Amino acid sequence: DKAGHRHYMSKEIAEQPDVLANALEYYAGDNEGGQMLEAGVDFSAFDRVVMVACGTASLACLVSKYWVEQIAQMPVDVDIASEFRYREAPLDARTLAVFVSQSGETADTLAALRYATGKAGKVVSVVNALESSIARESDLALPILAGPEIGVASTKAFTCQLAVLASLALQAGRQRGTIDPAQQRLLTDQLRQVPGQVAQALAIAPQIKAVSAQLARYDHVLFLGRGALYPLALEGALKLKEISYIHAEGYASGELKHGPIALIDEEMPVVVLAPHDGMFDKTVSNMQEVMARGGKIVMISDGPGLKDGGDGAWQKVEMPTIDGPFAAIAYAVPVQELAYFTAVEKGTDVDQPRNLAKSVTVE
Ligand code: M6R
Repeated sequence: DKAGHRHYMSKEIAEQPDVLANALEYYAGDNEGGQMLEAGVDFSAFDRVVMVACGTASLACLVSKYWVEQIAQMPVDVDIASEFRYREAPLDARTLAVFVSQSGETADTLAALRYATGKAGKVVSVVNALESSIARESDLALPILAGPEIGVASTKAFTCQLAVLASLALQAGRQRGTIDPAQQRLLTDQLRQVPGQVAQALAIAPQIKAVSAQLARYDHVLFLGRGALYPLALEGALKLKEISYIHAEGYASGELKHGPIALIDEEMPVVVLAPHDGMFDKTVSNMQEVMARGGKIVMISDGPGLKDGGDGAWQKVEMPTIDGPFAAIAYAVPVQELAYFTAVEKGTDVDQPRNLAKSVTVE
C-alpha cells in the first residue's frame, strides 16, 4: 500500500517525521527503550566501539562515529562487513561491537557478527527486523522502529538508525561522564527536535525537484560534505547512483584538492552539503575552488549559510537552520529527494532498480 504515493520510496521518505518521533520517544524519552539501552549497554565497560554494516547502514555508522567520539570521547572504528569479516581484526572484552542492518539478514553483516561473537565484550545489533538472524544472534537487539521498508533504496531506515545511534551516543556520554547534566539536556533537546526539522526539510521538496530536473541531464555528480555531513555526501552519491544510474561520488570536502578536483568542469555538478556550522567557512572555501574551475555548485545550506556563502552557486536549496550535532539527520531528506526526483525525471524503476535486491542474503 503506497498510501497515495507513486512509489514506496516517496511514501517512506514522507513517513520519516512520524517514525523518527516514535523512535526518539522510545529511546530518548525516558521510557522503555531508554531503559533497555541503560540496562543493555554500559559504555564505561568498554574502551572502544567497532561498528560494522553494509551500504547505507554503514554510512549511518559513519555519521555516528562523529557523535560518539565527540560526545563520549570514545574511539569508534567503522567497517564495511565484507572487509571486516575476513580481516582478522583484533577484538577484545573491552570492545563493544555494533552491527547495523535494516533487514537483519545481510550475509556479510551476519558473518561479521559471527566473527565478533566470543571475541568482543558485547555484540549489539541495530535492526529494523527484530525477527531476523542478526537480531537473534546478538547479545542485545535494538529495534529502529521504522516499520516495513519496501523500496530498495533505504530511506526511513537510515534516519531511524541515526536516531537510535544518536541516542546511544548520548547514553555513552552520560555513562562515561564526558557530558555534564546541562549538556545532556541540551543534546537531548536538540535530538528531540529532529522530527520537526525533518518535516521542515520535507516542505522544501519543490526546491529539490527543480534542482533534480537539472541534475537528470548530467552523467556525473559529485557530493561534498564535512564532519558528520561527509557520510551524508557518501549517502547522496550512493542513492543517486542506485536509483537514477547517474555516476556519483561522495567526498569529504577537504579531500577535493587531493585528486577529485581534477574532474571538475561544467559537465559535473557538485552538490555541497553546508549547514552554517563550525565547518562552514572551510566548506565554502572548497566550494569556491570548484567555482573557480568552472564547476557548477548546488549548495544545500540554511538561510544564514546561503547569505554568507551562496554567491555564485548555480542552484541553491534552503534548509531550516539547525543547531547542534544532529543536523546530519535532517540533511538526509534533500539527499534522498535529489535521488528520488532525479530518478523519476529519468523514468527509472525507483522501487526496484536494476541489479539490486532489498536484502542481500548472499555474499
Ligand atoms: O538490510 P541492510 O541494512 O543490512 O542492507 C544493507 C545494504 O544492502 C543497504 O543499505 C543498501 O546499500 C541500500 N540499497 C541502500 O539504499
